[in-house]
Amino acid sequence: MVLSFCDKLILAPMVRVGTLPMRLLALDYGADIVYCEELVDIKMLQCRRVVNEVLQTVDYIAPTERVIFQTCDKEKDRLVFQLGTADPERALAVAKFIENDVAAIDVNMGCPKEYSTKILKTLVNGTSKPVTCKIRILPTLEDTISLVRIIERTGVAAIAVHGRKKEERPQHPVHCDFIKAISEAVSIPVIANGGSQELIREYTDIEAFRSITATSSVMVARAAMWNPSIFRKDGFLPLEDVMRDYIKHAVRYNNHYTNTKYCLCQMMRDQLESPLGRKLHATQSTLDICDVFEMTSFYESCQLSQEARKGFLNINETIEAENDNTENYDTVQLPVKFEKKDYLPQVTPKMFLLEWCRKEKLPQPVYYTVQRSLDKFFHSVVTVDEKKFCSTLWDKSKKLAEQAAAIVCLRTLGLPEGKLGEKESDLVRKRKRGIQDESVKMTDSQGADQFKKRLHHSENVDNL
Ligand code: FNR
Repeated sequence: MVLSFCDKLILAPMVRVGTLPMRLLALDYGADIVYCEELVDIKMLQCRRVVNEVLQTVDYIAPTERVIFQTCDKEKDRLVFQLGTADPERALAVAKFIENDVAAIDVNMGCPKEYSTKILKTLVNGTSKPVTCKIRILPTLEDTISLVRIIERTGVAAIAVHGRKKEERPQHPVHCDFIKAISEAVSIPVIANGGSQELIREYTDIEAFRSITATSSVMVARAAMWNPSIFRKDGFLPLEDVMRDYIKHAVRYNNHYTNTKYCLCQMMRDQLESPLGRKLHATQSTLDICDVFEMTSFYESCQLSQEARKGFLNINETIEAENDNTENYDTVQLPVKFEKKDYLPQVTPKMFLLEWCRKEKLPQPVYYTVQRSLDKFFHSVVTVDEKKFCSTLWDKSKKLAEQAAAIVCLRTLGLPEGKLGEKESDLVRKRKRGIQDESVKMTDSQGADQFKKRLHHSENVDNL
């Protein structure tokens, strides 16, 4: 359903504050719509979109591996993505990139420039979701009215108006008369903003602000940052309870502890010198924060359930990988990991397998490796003599996954794999299972050198 901006309580866009935990908390308490913090187009276009199956989120991840934007199903139909942009083409590229994960797209027009209306038109024509914009008022009412009329003609679904001029600070009074005049001049919903502290101190003030500005909806920033339970029609909750509710979302979604700490400090703004404030100030991890709020067992149970889910997905992905390949029904699988420390230095299972294939006049082993989106782990299947072998476990790197597949093959065929302490008797036992092999026992680095020499004809020894 298309998001409507009529008669709504809205969490305003706030840099650093409007991340996923705060947005979910605002929704829990009664906000109807939540805006994310302003995200700049260039930064977004560098991100890759990853479905995080463990957290059940969609993450937009920068090349530095930082999560720039994270969202989840719970907010999908009520989330407005606020874009910072000065370029219509870039704006549209971001909108197309994120449109399926959000309910609407907003352009932060702070102090509107000429190109701003072009951006709005491009977005309205180019995306499937409603487009809104957020402005400050201009020095005169006349100019402001003519601006909003131009904006209305671009086809936007709503305009949020922060009733202050460019140079005015939050402590300056908000111009309710401007907001009211704007609301009366256009036919699209106007969202009143700028009332925190002076006019909006508790839930009932929100309706009063809407009423004096004669607008459709109200957007709250600072008052919600200080205590998000302002959205509760039953009134504020004690701040410590609110902070605990916030921490629960932060832990569940692996929010970065610096962001969690920042938001908690905003809530404790006038109590940072209290014993709790000082303890919060000293925290250096999410676990520290949980300790301060006596939520250690919540933290631990969350970690455990995430680990359990990872394990569950691991099994499922293995099965999926198997099913993906129609010829895979006869793949030999063992739960094997290549632990470097357990093997001869510089001689790897892949080398053993290659040499054996050469001796047997078989084609070289062929490795087929995939990487999964979940945690970027790798899985490799090796084909030897038209048979396939793989580990059931996933590995941190392509090299490790290939070595694990080689081990599965060598073990199945009863061949030596270069493991320290590998005994001749083990191999004899393996050979008795019907596999002919004349490999030497390799238990030290001297053996490793000999083995390497025998591989002199191999072009790719260092990659093995
Ligand atoms: C803001 N504001 C803001 N505005 C915006 O359009 N995009 C943003 O990312 C931010 N970031 C931001 C961070 C913080 C910490 C604050 C306090 C404010 C401005 C905000 O949305 C709002 O317009 C003003 O704060 C006025 O509303 P209140 O605070 O009176 O409700």
